Amino acid sequence: MKNQLFRKKSVSQILSDSATHGSGLAKVLGVRDLVSLGIAAIVGAGIFSTIGLAAFNGGPAVSLLFVFVAFACVFTALSYAQFASTVPVSGSAYTYAYVAFGELFAWIIGWALVLEYAVSNMAVAVGFSAYLADVFDSVFGIHLPRELTTPMFAGGQATGAWFNLPAFIVLMVLTWLLVRGVRESARTNNIMVLVKVGAVLAFIIGAASAVDASNWTPYMPNGFSGVITGAAIVFFTYIGFDSVSTASEECRNPQRDVPMGIIGTLLICTVLYIGVAVVLTGIVDYQTLSNAAPVANALKEIGLDNVRRIVSVGALIGMVSSLLVFQYGQARVWFAMSRDRLMPSSFSKVHPVHKTPHVSTWVAGLFVAIPAGIWDIGTFADLSSIGTLFAFALVSAGVLVLRKRDPHLPRKFRVPFVPVVPVLSIVFCVILMAGLPLEAWIRFAVWLVIGLVIYFTFGRKHSALAEK
Ligand code: ALA
Repeated sequence: MKNQLFRKKSVSQILSDSATHGSGLAKVLGVRDLVSLGIAAIVGAGIFSTIGLAAFNGGPAVSLLFVFVAFACVFTALSYAQFASTVPVSGSAYTYAYVAFGELFAWIIGWALVLEYAVSNMAVAVGFSAYLADVFDSVFGIHLPRELTTPMFAGGQATGAWFNLPAFIVLMVLTWLLVRGVRESARTNNIMVLVKVGAVLAFIIGAASAVDASNWTPYMPNGFSGVITGAAIVFFTYIGFDSVSTASEECRNPQRDVPMGIIGTLLICTVLYIGVAVVLTGIVDYQTLSNAAPVANALKEIGLDNVRRIVSVGALIGMVSSLLVFQYGQARVWFAMSRDRLMPSSFSKVHPVHKTPHVSTWVAGLFVAIPAGIWDIGTFADLSSIGTLFAFALVSAGVLVLRKRDPHLPRKFRVPFVPVVPVLSIVFCVILMAGLPLEAWIRFAVWLVIGLVIYFTFGRKHSALAEK
């Protein structure tokens, strides 16, 4: 039994499995596509929606939080990059854990990753719906009916709304696009990323002259605990950099491109985020920012309506590209787990014409779209963050384990200053997890128990390693 739970894949076995079963995936992506994919995933509802809640808790010090959280992400990203350059196949941390810890932990991480991708996209879809309503209002003067554009439940209470229709529809349309093929999706992404970065810059430049430095005091109104809560919320805005490594099987040169893609993505996003945070907390009182569209509302408050329209439309497009990349990454986690027979084998089918994992893409689409129509953004964001931090801490632990167990494994990219960097990554992740509310911990525990039941009743028996 112990042997079964800790049975491991070797790196050479993973590469050969990928060559045998995964060769159907087209290898078309380069560094620029990866950075674009990364920015597309990272800059989404977080910087336009949840930043308000982070500023409300942390105060103007929220801009510092981005630096703190970026360090946590960089440390983790270096571990990711090492694994990704050693094991360049689909599945991200899930595949890496199969090498470092064995099957049970791989399953647990894969299950946490499904939570990361799926639940954060539920949050982003809800943010999309809120900004869609704002764009209809500010650009066209049309008020969309609240019953069809807001969550049915918020904070555990029924809201009277029927279903969040835009959140559901946008996910179904993107799923269809993803099934049509990586190439088209990557190209669409590149355009959407330009628009999104343009909107962020439009906000920073357009609103900078309205900054009133008196809004920056008090700097930390809720003390250190407020800052930690704010940091945990800020973390949500960074979720997605690991999706770059889930695309490694579809890269032309993964050993070189994936590490460069991850680090480039983080650098660009941190600069953009700090700019938004500094300006946003400078133009209005931080206490007014606790709402679903804080950027648009702050611009409205200071009377910059033209900037507001540009930013809101850009935010909307930004969220679409974020949704697209997360659905892409998620389908590939389902795909990788299915290839190992820990999930039903149909999930790893590759479409004969489009060369995409069409079944897992549709499963991921419905799995996200239905709850997105029902619950609110805050519930989703906290749950997604806790699942992600958990997976990140395990990835960094994996670097330490692999270095001890297999020190001579060829790695194109090595984490510098081991063990300091992976240990710091684990410490940062634990601090951020500690900042999340008890409900998020309970929901996460329930999710893990469901995952373990599936593993022990299905995966353990059907596993490809068991057959071997
Ligand atoms: N990082 C993603 C966002 O901000 C989840 O929307």
